[in-house]
Amino acid sequence: MNVHDSEKVIGTLMAQGYSQVETPETAGLVLYNTCSIRDKAEQKVFSRLQNFKREAGKGKIFGVLGCVAQQEGEKIFDRAPHVSLVAGSASYTRLGEMLVQLESGNRRVTGLSLDTDETFDTPFTRRDNPHRAYITIIEGCDKSCAYCVVPFTRGPERSRTSESVMSEARRLAEQGFTEIQLLGQNVNSYRDPSPARWDFAMLLRRVADVPGIRRVRYTTSHPRDFVRAIVDAMDENEVLCDHVHLPVQSGSSKVLASMDRLYTRDEYMRRIEWIRNARRRYSITTDIIVGFPGETPEDFQATLDLLDEVQYDSLFSFKYSPRPNTAALAMGDKIAEEEKQQRLLILQEKQRAIQIRRNADLIGSVQEVLVEGRHQALGQWIGRTSSNRTLNFTHSETGGGALIGKYLPVRVTRSGPNSLVGESVTVV
Ligand code: 5AD
Ligand code: SF4
Repeated sequence: MNVHDSEKVIGTLMAQGYSQVETPETAGLVLYNTCSIRDKAEQKVFSRLQNFKREAGKGKIFGVLGCVAQQEGEKIFDRAPHVSLVAGSASYTRLGEMLVQLESGNRRVTGLSLDTDETFDTPFTRRDNPHRAYITIIEGCDKSCAYCVVPFTRGPERSRTSESVMSEARRLAEQGFTEIQLLGQNVNSYRDPSPARWDFAMLLRRVADVPGIRRVRYTTSHPRDFVRAIVDAMDENEVLCDHVHLPVQSGSSKVLASMDRLYTRDEYMRRIEWIRNARRRYSITTDIIVGFPGETPEDFQATLDLLDEVQYDSLFSFKYSPRPNTAALAMGDKIAEEEKQQRLLILQEKQRAIQIRRNADLIGSVQEVLVEGRHQALGQWIGRTSSNRTLNFTHSETGGGALIGKYLPVRVTRSGPNSLVGESVTVV
């Protein structure tokens, strides 16, 4: 989502006559897009700003965008006085105006209001990848997970009209993009604000029908709003990729309740059953937080058991990180840092073993890949399967970028915990 926000910001600047340079040293304006989901990401922002400081004397203008900007607001001017612009993502619709203020010499420009019912749409998005394009369908979040800063940094949920999403999808297809990734903090809460009133499943169906689009992905889904109609839509059209990312956060219903996730383990498992019983084989991935306040060894064990039960294809795991404004800050029973670290390692070790097995099961199968690049040193092309696995492969074509952007059948010959290796085949 942040990558795509940066693409939109760059596009907007370029439409105003700016051009992009390779390094901050050669730039006249440096905008730093930031994430505050965990403390580590936030700390990085301030150390990076310190590094930029040396450049400040040379007449450069600095801005901080994104969630750290939204969260820290004008305090950033105190902590990093060389910064002239502080703006959260809900204010990017005013970006043009803010740039004008900067150009006219204003050295304290802010965009910190969350009070908007608009999404940041711009026809000028600067996309670097020529084959895969992101489309934001919904911004903000109306949930209130006890650990999460997002509702405070990205504001309330607002969906784009189906017409504006569809016209962007059609335009991208005409430009030659073949893969679309629909984005939102909570894509499946999507609700078309126009009279058509499409829900997320309907939007998926329609985007998948756009001529020229070969793959559609979406992220991220909240289990509470993950309805069966989504699985039905995916089953109907193979353009909708063989992958569901369904963040569970914990395998313990008690922890889920204190996280305010709005589902129990059983309710989550029901959704997994829908996916497992579907017509196609879907890859399932998730996010897990370990060491949430009050997570006992038994609760953690419940998460490990869930991994055995679901057999995820991949997961992102995090140590709980206390965030400003969130409900979890006031909760007792904090877990010591070393204990969190240990739980994280145990979890990752278990998942690694599961992935080794699951990937090994694919040896001998033929998968269609979108070719994304070339590893010249390894003599391999880099491909991605519909299930979102990296599948590097050999092919008689060995030069330059000849295959990049093509869809090819590849037979899997070797597997590891995080990727597959194979060889191109002519017949599926
Ligand atoms: N601490 C640790 N992990 C977090 N996430 C969100 N907030 C926190 C936090 N305070 C994780 C969740 C979410 C992913 C994007 O980041 O697992 O799904
Ligand atoms: Fe954060 Fe929960 Fe919203 Fe996801 S659903 S962005 S975890 S508050």
